[in-house]
Amino acid sequence: MKDISIGLVTPAAIGRRWLDAFKRVAPHLKVLLNDEITDPGAIELLLVWKHQKGVLAPFENVKLLYSLGAGVDHLLADPDLPKNVPICRIVDPLLSFSMSNYIIYAVLEFQRRMDKYRKDQQTGTWDHYAPPERTIHIGVLGLGYLGQDAACKLTGLGFDVSGYSLSPKNIPNINCYHGAQLDSFLTAVNVLVCTVPYTKKTHALLNQSLFNKLPKGSYLINVARGKVQVASDILAALDSGQLAGAFLDVFETEPLPSDSPFWQHPKVNITPHIASITNPEAGVQQIMANWQRLQQRKPLDNQVNLQKGY
Ligand code: GLV
Repeated sequence: MKDISIGLVTPAAIGRRWLDAFKRVAPHLKVLLNDEITDPGAIELLLVWKHQKGVLAPFENVKLLYSLGAGVDHLLADPDLPKNVPICRIVDPLLSFSMSNYIIYAVLEFQRRMDKYRKDQQTGTWDHYAPPERTIHIGVLGLGYLGQDAACKLTGLGFDVSGYSLSPKNIPNINCYHGAQLDSFLTAVNVLVCTVPYTKKTHALLNQSLFNKLPKGSYLINVARGKVQVASDILAALDSGQLAGAFLDVFETEPLPSDSPFWQHPKVNITPHIASITNPEAGVQQIMANWQRLQQRKPLDNQVNLQKGY
């Protein structure tokens, strides 16, 4: 492969993990991180995650732009994005391995009533007789790569699983809903797992009116993006009992502000956006394979559809 100029624009701690991965997987390549990029106009392959708005404007000769995660909302919201450049995202089996395991853990937290048993332990209560499992019908909202993987694994565990996507999908053993069938999907499930990408259509989708369509006492798991949910509506639904609990990995503002009621809420489990973190070594291999495809004028893998926003 001829010499290429690779730029990495991301918070330093994340950037160092990627630099290490490049050293291990492709030691011959020179990758510049943030301030090391003194000539942005020379960068051909630009890798970006959680960048500051405006910093991408001088990258005028980029040939391939990469999101270092599955989501691309951080890129598409930036008006200074290099124009007419293909944008790709990381989609890899390690990402879905972690994501599905997280989702399964969150589902089991509710289904096996682990919150109750933790409380019982604190009070020295041996309650052998309360029903130890809840009857659940899982709904996966968003049947992309990650949503499908989780849905299939949950089905494999014996759960009843439905899924909803904008366009029709046919997945063995999953009750698939699409398009205008959102309300029917919501009434059929009592554990809602949100895996949608963040787009104009999914902004504030997890709101009071949606929660009211779920059976009373449903459980919410959001591993998508914080801006897909309306925090005050989640809190109100928890107070009214419309939601029995929530397992949230993402928040409208991250890091979650210290005065957020979510921190102390007895019905909420939170994690700091760690459900699934891209594995940089797998990512580097994928990025370089796609760079080669670009050179050979072959269709790119995991290229973002700008119209759809994912
Ligand atoms: C993580 O949130 C990702 O989009 O990969």
